[in-house]
Amino acid sequence: MVAVLGYSREQIAAAVKEMYSAVAADPEAGFHFPVGRSASRAADYDERLLGPVPDRALAAFAGVGCPFRADVIRPGNVVLDVGSGSGVDAVIASRQVGPAGKVLALDMTPAMLDRLRDLVRAEGLANIEVIEGDAARIPLPDASVDVVTSNGVLNLVPDKRRAIAEIFRVLRPGGRVQIADIVIGLPVTPDCLADPKLWAECVVGATVDEDYLDMFRDAGFDDVEVLRSHDYFRHSPSPETREVAQGFGARAIELRMRRGRRVPAALQALRRLDPRRIGRQVHRRGLWGVAALAAALLACYGTLAAVAALAAAGVAVALDEGAWAAAIVALAVLAALAVLAGHRRHRQVGPGIVAVLGAGAIGYVMFVSYSLALEMIAFTVIAGGVAWDQILRRRSVSRLARPGTVASSA
Ligand SMILES: C[S@@+](CC[C@H](N)C(=O)[O-])C[C@H]1O[C@@H](n2cnc3c(N)ncnc32)[C@H](O)[C@@H]1O
Repeated sequence: MVAVLGYSREQIAAAVKEMYSAVAADPEAGFHFPVGRSASRAADYDERLLGPVPDRALAAFAGVGCPFRADVIRPGNVVLDVGSGSGVDAVIASRQVGPAGKVLALDMTPAMLDRLRDLVRAEGLANIEVIEGDAARIPLPDASVDVVTSNGVLNLVPDKRRAIAEIFRVLRPGGRVQIADIVIGLPVTPDCLADPKLWAECVVGATVDEDYLDMFRDAGFDDVEVLRSHDYFRHSPSPETREVAQGFGARAIELRMRRGRRVPAALQALRRLDPRRIGRQVHRRGLWGVAALAAALLACYGTLAAVAALAAAGVAVALDEGAWAAAIVALAVLAALAVLAGHRRHRQVGPGIVAVLGAGAIGYVMFVSYSLALEMIAFTVIAGGVAWDQILRRRSVSRLARPGTVASSA
């Protein structure tokens, strides 16, 4: 997939580069996220780690947590820092690996890379190599690094699965990963995902926490552990960003994991079809109304079609009509209840009332007086309530992402 709803990955990358070029050029200009010393405090870095970090690196630090809590880097290791920025973590890692080791500092923003190259030259950091490149296409051979570290970066990458597959590819089997990144509790709607500016703001590109961890497990990482989770955005100088972050339940997490010894089999992709996982996705996206309505339609017309097909094949099926009707009504009621529950998100009762009327009509045709026309109208009414609820839910999420703008146009 090249584009995210009309915006190309290039446009999102350009917005991210613009943001971090501004950070590199003037870290004190004032951003919606903490930068420099205040960022290291927001990320809760141990002062002993920061001791050897030159001020010029710390000045443009924009990490979101402290990946070093994972404690996986050893002397002599080759460490890749994905999205190294001004180089704070690269400098800390370079001390940990020592002269026998090496740190490969990868970033895609030329201004950040220039800043880091100047630092490496000025401080004589011989074991840091600066590399220009994209996290989704890491310019390194397979199995060439022992540890990958990254801080506040994957939330900015549109194709996270690809970036994670790249991290897997360049790590040697058994290699370790330490990551700090942003995750969210409430999924972002597609229209927000398509806004490059919102991506650069760190919340909208983030993934729901459990999906984030599952992406690593799917890619073949073992022992994926969350070491710490914290309210990074409470330190944001921007009230709007704090509001957006709170609305989406955004926070920083610090992770440790190990690359599995084998490349995951193609069948591993079937993990995504795990019913518990699908249930979680449906729940978070507020899709129970859609799912229950689809199940009601399937129970009604799908059963009819299956019975007719079996009869045509010479197989007679005795259908318990009472139980069948009860199942259809139960699913219609479930759809109506799910739509009613949407009130908690968008505060409007209209869709719930419409869906309840539709479910009541289904009950009437199933148990009082059957009419195919009324049955179809009733399903259409429920579908109207479900669709209305979905529109309002999306609007409420868009409003969370753009507190000032959408509220006024809604
Ligand atoms: C939030 S900053 C963090 C920088 C650094 N890790 C730190 O802790 O200060 C994100 C950095 O990731 C880089 N970045 C974002 N997307 C990237 C990608 N797809 N490939 C490589 N670097 C990327 C940006 O240029 C920026 O320097």
